[in-house]
Amino acid sequence: MQLAMVLADTAVMNMDIEKWNAAVNPKVNGTWNLHEALPADMDFFVIASSLSGIFGNYGQANYAAANAFLDAFAQFRQSKGLAASTVDLGVVDEIGFRNQLSQMRVSEQKNNQLLHGILLKTGVSKGQYIWKRDVRTALSHVRQQTPEATTTNRGVKNGSGMKGFLSAVQDNQEVLHDASSAHVTATEIARQVSIYTMRGGDEEVDLGMSLQDLGVDSLVSIEVRNWWKQTFGADVTALQLMNGGSFMDLGKKAVDQLKQKYLMKK
Ligand SMILES: NC(=O)c1ccc[n+]([C@@H]2O[C@H](COP(=O)([O-])OP(=O)(O)OC[C@H]3O[C@@H](n4cnc5c(N)ncnc54)[C@H](OP(=O)(O)O)[C@@H]3O)[C@@H](O)[C@H]2O)c1
Repeated sequence: MQLAMVLADTAVMNMDIEKWNAAVNPKVNGTWNLHEALPADMDFFVIASSLSGIFGNYGQANYAAANAFLDAFAQFRQSKGLAASTVDLGVVDEIGFRNQLSQMRVSEQKNNQLLHGILLKTGVSKGQYIWKRDVRTALSHVRQQTPEATTTNRGVKNGSGMKGFLSAVQDNQEVLHDASSAHVTATEIARQVSIYTMRGGDEEVDLGMSLQDLGVDSLVSIEVRNWWKQTFGADVTALQLMNGGSFMDLGKKAVDQLKQKYLMKK
């Protein structure tokens, strides 16, 4: 269990690098060190995080950033198949740091805040990070969809592989009956989803995973649906994508749709 914490509160304009590091290092570097030092087959890897990572707290930009990192880090470990969970604590009575500050009055709002946090975290556990809704992050979404951005990631090879595959299908539809076809389409769907969920499309995705496993929310599923239509020239609903099973299942679905498309052309 990772419970390390140092508070170094100050207004953000007065936040120097020492204060920043004082709060950030035990959580960020400390957690990373545990991740590196501990064996991969841990039964659990529990990290104490804080609701401040969701809401922020005046004077605690450093602490909030560190806790936001922890929540994302747990997802990172999970994406690698490693044990990880974070607990976003609200104010804790009777034990720990807050309890030592006897003059600190626990806000009446803490229960509301906790409930709000839990609701938000329900989304976060599905990869619905709040910052993805933030207009200030829109640029990175756009960048990742531009051709310049895609040429920088390894997946472009697969992307052009996909182009090659589609043009081979156009020449000879028998290709669709080859067992490897579903694998090619599944890989490309997974790569695309990986880009839309801001993983960059570089990492290899387990084709047994589903869209939910990769943190796809309703907005991203619409993006994937549009891409699907453009790529395979066939319709699919966001719901069908979300309930469509693994990437391999979706790959098979794409192949079936392509078969149907060419059958209708005949
Ligand atoms: N208490 C709350 O109301 C509350 C609310 C939300 C979240 N949390 C989270 O819950 C966790 C525990 O909080 P707490 O109230 O129990 O805090 P705490 O009593 O202040 O304990 C923090 C511990 O972290 C250790 N630590 C600090 N820097 C370290 C480092 N570089 N390496 C190893 N250990 C280090 C401290 O050890 P030393 O004493 O030896 O320095 C201390 O034992 C924290 O992660 C905190 O963010 C607490």
